[in-house]
Amino acid sequence: MDKLLITGGKRLSGDIQISGAKNAALPILCAALLSADTLALSNVPHLQDVATMQKLLRQMGLHIHANGDVLELNGSGVNHPEAPYEMVKTMRASILVLGPLLARFGEAKVSLPGGCAIGSRPVDQHIKGLQAMGADIRIEGGYIHARAKKLKGTRIVTDMITVTGTENLLMAATLTDGETVLENAAREPEVTDLANLLVAMGAKIEGIGTDRLRITGVAALHGASHRVIADRIETGTFLCAVAAAGGDVVLENTRADLLDAVTDKLREAGAVITTGDNWVRVQMAGRPKAVSFRTTEYPGFPTDMQAQVMALNCIAEGTSRVTETIFENRYMHVQELNRLGASIEIDGHTAIVHGVLRLVGAPVMATDLRASASLVIAGLAAQGQTLVDRIYHLDRGYDRMEAKLSAVGADIQRIR
Ligand code: EPU
Repeated sequence: MDKLLITGGKRLSGDIQISGAKNAALPILCAALLSADTLALSNVPHLQDVATMQKLLRQMGLHIHANGDVLELNGSGVNHPEAPYEMVKTMRASILVLGPLLARFGEAKVSLPGGCAIGSRPVDQHIKGLQAMGADIRIEGGYIHARAKKLKGTRIVTDMITVTGTENLLMAATLTDGETVLENAAREPEVTDLANLLVAMGAKIEGIGTDRLRITGVAALHGASHRVIADRIETGTFLCAVAAAGGDVVLENTRADLLDAVTDKLREAGAVITTGDNWVRVQMAGRPKAVSFRTTEYPGFPTDMQAQVMALNCIAEGTSRVTETIFENRYMHVQELNRLGASIEIDGHTAIVHGVLRLVGAPVMATDLRASASLVIAGLAAQGQTLVDRIYHLDRGYDRMEAKLSAVGADIQRIR
């Protein structure tokens, strides 16, 4: 199993190219199931999760041609509308095939995702929404068996804001009879990116970017070309790395306006952040100041940045309170950060972080994707060597993170 060996204390300086967004690419790949034509996608990130999704889609009969960050997907040969447990258990986002399969083929068999390191993460809202559209859904043998001759437009109010739930229902709604209104829809930029692609494919969607999406079903969708938006979480992760290690780095091919809640906190922590149309520059000198925050849905502070900013708080001046409101168990990094000398206590859904002057390197274990990123950030700021084990979590969602960090002066190497 690969590990990362980091020798901390190096200032970071230079440029980093930001990749396309994982959480936009995954639903967008599934949208290829909605049409018999070809989708041409660019800025597709090189990630384990994207590879897993391609494997799943190929198993269903989708034809995929990959060339660098460009993918061409053709849905004319899809003949096996099934997502097996072996795939879904390795990647929960596989659930995103459910809506498109049901809408286009009238049937789908998708394994129920099991438990997850960051919370229980049920998919009841995906199911409830599809049932409201007229689908007949049975849960049997660990699988969701869904059938519908033709989905029908309706009004759906989800019990909570769900990102992949909104995406699944949005994709299904494009091919229904009549009009669907999705209330309480997620407004994450990745949902907007998917909606823009669907419009390019011929879908009729109003209210894009708001919490009320109105979709008028059409008979069929056609091919389209689309560039996947920049990864705001990768961007935020590198901003935190520089804020923790110190330095001056320009992140390119990205958008700061999708990350205001995070850049505001990093400025409060003492980072100087300047932005342009497609770049963000971060300069940091001296010790960060502690910053408190609560995670919420977009445009609030993203849960996917909680662990990384917590790593910064570990070495900050002062005490911070970090409250996680989206997932019930997203504090697996806390014990590992404490192994590096951090002082964090958990009180219910809040972590109280007492900033310490320095962290000291140690072997640590990655538990999920963003927890892994926080350990890398802590390792860059720590004295001595940090060995991060189980970095397959990191490879699921970061495109060559160690290469990007080495290029700006970090001492980080992959040990195979
Ligand atoms: N929820 C339910 N029932 C549902 C759906 C969601 O109870 O049917 C709950 C969840 O358990 C959670 C909350 O609603 O407590 C929000 O979950 P959501 O459905 O929004 O999460 P998700 O769609 O499964 C996506 C991202 C996550 C990100 C969350 C929150 C993708 C592929 N995944 O997950 O990304 O943390 O939204 O923003 O888009 C990551 O990239 O590291 C990651 C975990």
